[in-house]
Amino acid sequence: MQTFRPEFAQPAPVIFGCGAISVLGERVRGFNCKKVMVIFDKGVEDLGVAKKVTDALDAQGVDYITYNGVVPDPPVSVVNEAGKLALEHGVDCLVGVGGGSSMDTAKAVAIYLYDPVPVEKYITQIPPVVPTTTPVILVATTAGTGSECTRVAIISRPELNVKWSAFVNTSLAIVDPELTVTLPKAETANTGLDAFSHAAEAMTTIFWNYHSNLYGEAAIRKICKNLVCAWNEPENIEARSEMALAANWAGLAFNNPITHVGHASADAFSCHFHTTHGHGCALALPEAMAFVAPAMPERMRTIAEAMGISVTGSESGEKLGAMVADGIRELMHRVKIQPLRELGYTRDKVIALAGDVVENHLSTYCPVEVTRARAEYILGRIYDTY
Ligand SMILES: [Fe+2]
Repeated sequence: MQTFRPEFAQPAPVIFGCGAISVLGERVRGFNCKKVMVIFDKGVEDLGVAKKVTDALDAQGVDYITYNGVVPDPPVSVVNEAGKLALEHGVDCLVGVGGGSSMDTAKAVAIYLYDPVPVEKYITQIPPVVPTTTPVILVATTAGTGSECTRVAIISRPELNVKWSAFVNTSLAIVDPELTVTLPKAETANTGLDAFSHAAEAMTTIFWNYHSNLYGEAAIRKICKNLVCAWNEPENIEARSEMALAANWAGLAFNNPITHVGHASADAFSCHFHTTHGHGCALALPEAMAFVAPAMPERMRTIAEAMGISVTGSESGEKLGAMVADGIRELMHRVKIQPLRELGYTRDKVIALAGDVVENHLSTYCPVEVTRARAEYILGRIYDTY
């Protein structure tokens, strides 16, 4: 039986388009802020993207400091360090620039400014809603995480070997496709499949809703039409724009329904194998779809059609799941997603992550119960089939 969550909430306005970053300074002023902290990682800095953002602040004479210490799967220590710095400098506006890690760090720093104690207090297994007040502006530089349009801050707690989260108020998302043209090929592929997984998992959680289906289906259509082109021709601004829009829509799709066993598996891969978030999501997506398909045949038919797969209308849910999984694996091969086995882990090591997958709260949003035996089956299939 489906559980509906009729709420569809979009956390903040989205400004989309080439050159959109130019509005940053005026928007900061619109929030009556005097001192910005721009938060990013060294990769974004090296690609020259962080400078485009600080140039936009310079153009409007906005005062800012920068923090470039973000790392993948940002741990609580990074948030506490950036938070302390923000507090010392009287920062009253946070700008996260990057993929999920930098944007999630910016959200979590808002928690620190709300309550300047170690952020561990708020990064818990059942995510709390934290009533933060510092404006958070999110600038996406990948076409993937959709973090710019969700309230979720996902932060690692290395002492527990888990990734937990909190919900935070955000103020504005800026999606400027021109900021994505320097994204390396592997990141284009991994983050593009992450966006696909947001759309497809959102459409198939127990909390799916009609708005999410609309955004999810449209995002999958765009991703299947444009990811290979954006990967082959990094400077093709049309393909980059379509991917940036698709990733944003996929983010909107999963803000309420969240995701399920695919992301639960990806979390286990990143905690134990240190795969990037997008890479893990890509690896898990085909089997996540095959797993839920018998419970949601009509939704799987919609996903198949959005992917451009011919369906007759008489296929079973199981058959549709297999067709969708095959189609995703084909896309993964075309953009050279690295197989799990190439990372040097044995099948047994992969299956040993089943306990993590079952315990992950995301698995409770799956329309098919994720038991230990089923998680072992999914993990084994992920290893065997790609
Ligand atoms: Fe994701």
